[in-house]
Amino acid sequence: MKLSSGLLDIKPISGAVGAEIHGVDLKDNIPEEQFSEIKSAFGEYGVIFFRDQKLTPEQEITFARRWGEININRFFTKVDDYPEIAMVLKEPNQKKNIGGNWHTDHSYDTEPALGSILFAHEVPKSGGDTVFASMYSAYETLSDGLKGTLEGMSARHSSRHVFGPSRAEKEDDTVGRIKNAEAANQDAVHPVVITHPETGRKALYVNPGFTLGFEGWTDAESQPLLEYLYAHATRPEFTCRFDWKPGSIAFWDNRATWHFAINDYHGEKRLMHRITIEGSKLH
Ligand code: SIN
Repeated sequence: MKLSSGLLDIKPISGAVGAEIHGVDLKDNIPEEQFSEIKSAFGEYGVIFFRDQKLTPEQEITFARRWGEININRFFTKVDDYPEIAMVLKEPNQKKNIGGNWHTDHSYDTEPALGSILFAHEVPKSGGDTVFASMYSAYETLSDGLKGTLEGMSARHSSRHVFGPSRAEKEDDTVGRIKNAEAANQDAVHPVVITHPETGRKALYVNPGFTLGFEGWTDAESQPLLEYLYAHATRPEFTCRFDWKPGSIAFWDNRATWHFAINDYHGEKRLMHRITIEGSKLH
């Protein structure tokens, strides 16, 4: 892995996934040459992190638009006057956090999101880290036999069990944070192994949050193999862990990584702004 690059200081934070990028102020109009280095780091490391950034909501949106069209989230409460920005919030009196399981955002869409940018506004004194896992590493370390089997398979993904009415009714704690249960009507089928549209690398594309089962298999038949893949994909050596400070930013590639927001800060507030970038059909 590359340790640093010409214009920016790029430091991988683990062996498989994630790099911190220093030496850039994201509220500036980043010159094309620097932006293309950031793009390469995003492709290479799967998730990139920035520190000590002070962005207004307008500047968050301007930075996000440089990557593509913004997906207006159907389920999350939005920041007042900025529908492009979803709030990822946990108040001191709330027990459940958002994203507290392994998942990749929007795999329930037929054209899943390219990635999500998370801006830290208020973070607990300690805890509230996010863990990321590389789906390149997960795929590349499977046996040739299992790779061959998975290559021909597709999987069904859904938002219903996460954001739909059955879940919304059960969880008072998310009222005000997760909305529009009736909009949870997206199901999608994607290949189990995708070729990343920009890097050309193969990645495992099932996830514990939204995958229901393999196409043509029942959910029960799918479960043992999915469980095997989930345990494999979250081996510690495929992961990195990011500790947030106010002004930290993470931008993850939903086609190449999973993430998990750790819920270990009860009684404290954590407020993040999330902007999700539209993606394309996966092959
Ligand atoms: C998410 O899953 O989008 C939220 C991640 C986090 O809050 O760390």
